[in-house]
Amino acid sequence: MHCTRKVTDGIHWVGANDRRIAKFENMFPVPRGVSYNSYVILDEKTALMDTADSSVAERFMENVTAVLDGRTLDYLVVQHMEPDHCANIAAIIEKYPEVTVVGNAKTMQMIGQFYAGTKAEHTFLVKEGDKLSLGEHELNFVTAPMVHWPEVMVTYESKEKILFSADAFGTFGALNGTLFDDEIFFDAVWMEDARRYYTNIVGKYGPQVQALLKKAAGLDIAMICPLHGPVWRNDLELLLEKYDQWSRYEAEEDGVLIVYGSMYGNTENAAEVLAAEIAEQGMKNIKMYDASVTDCSYLIAEAFRYNRIVVAAPTYNAGLFAPIEHFLNDMKALNVQNKKIALLENGTWAPMAGKHMRAIVESMKNMEIVEPVISIKSALQPVQMEEVRTFVGELLK
Ligand code: FEO
Repeated sequence: MHCTRKVTDGIHWVGANDRRIAKFENMFPVPRGVSYNSYVILDEKTALMDTADSSVAERFMENVTAVLDGRTLDYLVVQHMEPDHCANIAAIIEKYPEVTVVGNAKTMQMIGQFYAGTKAEHTFLVKEGDKLSLGEHELNFVTAPMVHWPEVMVTYESKEKILFSADAFGTFGALNGTLFDDEIFFDAVWMEDARRYYTNIVGKYGPQVQALLKKAAGLDIAMICPLHGPVWRNDLELLLEKYDQWSRYEAEEDGVLIVYGSMYGNTENAAEVLAAEIAEQGMKNIKMYDASVTDCSYLIAEAFRYNRIVVAAPTYNAGLFAPIEHFLNDMKALNVQNKKIALLENGTWAPMAGKHMRAIVESMKNMEIVEPVISIKSALQPVQMEEVRTFVGELLK
């Protein structure tokens, strides 16, 4: 049976949830699942705001059919061409052959690239500032390149003051019946997934998100309808402030994130000793992760969150222990910046991890490395404790 929710009298959520999915984009674990949001607007004309992933195609099509309730679909607005939102374009065109597909030049190009056999009889090419009237509802198209792909646009509906925001303001996590931010415990239950979604999916594109936030500031927004996660109609400021902070690469908390790699427990022991000394010197906000155990997407979210980071790693093949190398390279790829970072290397006969970690960190923006890097041979020695105390003192300064 169809499963939809009313957003307003004229707008309905027709998306679907996937709780069977193991990894979003086949990369990021989503233990709470994910929602693919889509919206139908009913007016003199009808419009569908994006489609959904192929995994939920059957339920999605059933939902669209139920909300249209015998009416035809006049417009399909394609805001984003990543397949988690556009996989059902062909099915929609097949079911509603008179539909007009609305998108920008890049959108149309990508439809051809992804779905070579798909041909819409009617298309409406839009650019920044273009409008489309559905009757009382008016869609205003706003380009948002690289949030998260180059063709992305968001749509402001001026009658009900709704921003259809594409991937922006989305989050991992399936919707469990609840749709709106005032129906859930966002801070307690959703914030970590929201941060992990933002930092890993959009994190690289901070300047582009800042550009979108500036455009959004010029709009009177009562509701935000993203393509993943809850619809925002109550505490919009909470999310807007977080997006502003994340996209400026400003840490949310004064604290220490410790990420270590360890083969036999000796580097882990050094990290534990460091953590204890950090606590001894007064820091209460400490998070500690084994990079071999915790998926890198969680580490990235924490790297955005805290202002101080400790990375401890063994040398491997005269290089860097692979899980730590992956973490640091991912930090760089996602533009993590403005951190104080302390490095500890281990190597039984020729410690090299520090050199490799330093090279990656120095290629990132505005990273302050605590000097000197601590180097241990096989295991931390009691004689090095004075060095550890000084090192921690510098990190917390
Ligand atoms: Fe949810 Fe960039 O796709």
